[in-house]
Amino acid sequence: MTVREMQDEILKLKKEKDFCILAHSYVKREIIEIADIVGDSFKLSRDVCSTPQKNILFCGVHFMAETAKMLNMGKKVYLSHPNAGCPMAEQIQPELLKQMKEREPDRTVVAYINTTAALKRLCDVCVTSSSAVRIVKKMDSDKILFIPDCNLGAYVKASIPEKDIKLLQGGCPVHSSVTKEEAAKAKELHPDALFLVHPECIPEVVEAADYAGSTSGIIDFAKKSDKKQFIIGTELEIAETLQYECPDKEFFPLSKKLICPDMKISTLPDVLNTLQDPEKNGFEIKMSEQEAAEARRCIDEMLRLGE
Ligand code: 13P
Ligand code: SF4
Repeated sequence: MTVREMQDEILKLKKEKDFCILAHSYVKREIIEIADIVGDSFKLSRDVCSTPQKNILFCGVHFMAETAKMLNMGKKVYLSHPNAGCPMAEQIQPELLKQMKEREPDRTVVAYINTTAALKRLCDVCVTSSSAVRIVKKMDSDKILFIPDCNLGAYVKASIPEKDIKLLQGGCPVHSSVTKEEAAKAKELHPDALFLVHPECIPEVVEAADYAGSTSGIIDFAKKSDKKQFIIGTELEIAETLQYECPDKEFFPLSKKLICPDMKISTLPDVLNTLQDPEKNGFEIKMSEQEAAEARRCIDEMLRLGE
């Protein structure tokens, strides 16, 4: 089967079997092309609440499908590949967070959405990279524990110096692998380009940027700008997508290391196999009503404060 034939079959099956396909912007282009909704973490968790279809196939990583499930307990939710996890989501164990909360009960716990459902059950509010600053500013509490990404946390802290924000040592292994020397080198190679980065990068890289923002923020900024050249400091797929959608501009990836293996593990055959026989081939997300209700409190709070 060619890629085109597979895509046609997927489009036919998703209609027949009443599936909505959601894809994070970092997954492979051939999957993005057949998805109903494509976006960053905030857009996906907001839009998944209003899909009319009976079933959901999430092309992304585990915590995203888990979030989709807790917001849609009446639907079947599948993840595109059983091994698509986010290493950052597993960095803090619930037991450690319980101990920290006991030690400092007056801190409000803000969790990056890249966390497991088990951890979300212990948190007060979730944030995504596009909503973190807005939400933490709006919160009544001035004493915060931000988990698990210390780079996004440092970005929030720098944007809201009036709040007492405590960070832990966690982060995205992909974004945080880029060094300030690599950022300087990219700027030297492309002196006329604007430098756009994701706040999951280390603070020294974010400080060197002309703009820092979420995946959608970077895409919107580059599209609206009247500048012609951009260094893109996030997953490689975004530089490629922008180049494809804006052929009159030039996009240079900050580093070739910016590939998320977990986002790239899902293939078009995985999507096709799931739709052909979801019960047999699909990886269904299962969660008890109680687990979902407890974990979604902080997602509901994010959606309420994020509007
Ligand atoms: P956003 O989709 O919020 O930009 O986050 C990027 C990311 O690393 C997702 O795992
Ligand atoms: Fe996790 Fe980083 Fe991959 Fe996003 S890019 S899924 S944060 S490892």
